Amino acid sequence: MVDTQTQYQRIKQDIDKAVLEVMESSAFINGKPVHDFAANLADYIGVKHAIPCANGTDALQIAMMALELQPGDEVITPSFTYIATTEVIALLKLTPVFVEVDAKSFCMDPEKLETAITARTKAIVPVHLYGQAANMEKIMEIARQHKLYVIEDNAQAIGCNYVFSDGSKTKTGSIAQIGTTSFYPSKNLGAFGDGGAIFTNDDELARKLKMITNHGQSKQYYHDIVGCNSRLDSMQAAILDIKLKYLDEYIKARRKAADHYDSKFLDHPKLRIPHRAEFCEHVFHQYTLIIEGDAAYRDGLKQYLADNKIPAMIYYPVPGHKQGMFNSFNSSHVDLPVTNWLTERVISLPMHTELDKEQIDFIASKVLDYLNK
Ligand SMILES: Cc1ncc(COP(=O)(O)O)c(C=O)c1O
Repeated sequence: MVDTQTQYQRIKQDIDKAVLEVMESSAFINGKPVHDFAANLADYIGVKHAIPCANGTDALQIAMMALELQPGDEVITPSFTYIATTEVIALLKLTPVFVEVDAKSFCMDPEKLETAITARTKAIVPVHLYGQAANMEKIMEIARQHKLYVIEDNAQAIGCNYVFSDGSKTKTGSIAQIGTTSFYPSKNLGAFGDGGAIFTNDDELARKLKMITNHGQSKQYYHDIVGCNSRLDSMQAAILDIKLKYLDEYIKARRKAADHYDSKFLDHPKLRIPHRAEFCEHVFHQYTLIIEGDAAYRDGLKQYLADNKIPAMIYYPVPGHKQGMFNSFNSSHVDLPVTNWLTERVISLPMHTELDKEQIDFIASKVLDYLNK
């Protein structure tokens, strides 16, 4: 699905040098690369504060802790997302309220969001799924009306430009009170291990977020609030700081690959190519098709591709509201027809920075062979 090996080979000299420098400095935790990367990342996203942490799941958890959400508070989130988004809600004893996604963009449907708000709702967590933004302009407007916090789960869309209706642009992750991201190796900005970050423009929130990532510590051995141990180590920060310089180039390569896939699949009656919402510039963390038919037909395609040595993935085969971990919330009965429909029809094809035309031609030809059988 990804080719991080070839991507590494292209920048090997710089990466190896940076890693060696960290080893020679022995400043493995909280070293200079962590501070340099945090500053460069904040600049790139266009926020006052970027707070590195251990992974994207922690980033979400720490965001909810900093907002002082209390047990029983309701947090509205899509069910059609990676489990990390919803898991941390339950982990903090908050109540996940699963909301429907838009059938075209796969992201939170703002109209359905309105109807999910109750007196207990405290926060909304939209997810910029597969590299495309949720409709943040509408979501923020609803949140303002109801005085709710918004945390953007930007794990899959780092570098995505959001375009407001007045034409102004900003990066996803910088729009809400807090944005979070993941540097899991296959992400658009991937570390050589785990990593994550939290974004905010609010100085007080930033101070709290920083403290929570480091045992609630205001100064060494003084722990004012409950926190956790969630630090990005110096080695990952040094690697990410180099890769950050290439992020726009990586996004360009992904968009080019997506364009080429699109050209192969355009107007085919048995599939739908990824929708490109007018309010953002898709960064194609995934290239995800909808296959017309049922789950068995879609799964048949996955098997046919595997037989031809082409990987493909179903993100995600079981939506959040049907996961066993949420049984106590009775969420399996929630009526989410679009989410259920998508779960049975989506399939993601290989998508990364190193894909060339021949590879895409081959993959597309096998997809079409199956559909045209
Ligand atoms: C949408 C989404 N949220 C959160 C996460 C969690 O990130 P991590 O794996 O770094 O904990 C991921 C990725 O894995 C993700 O795709």
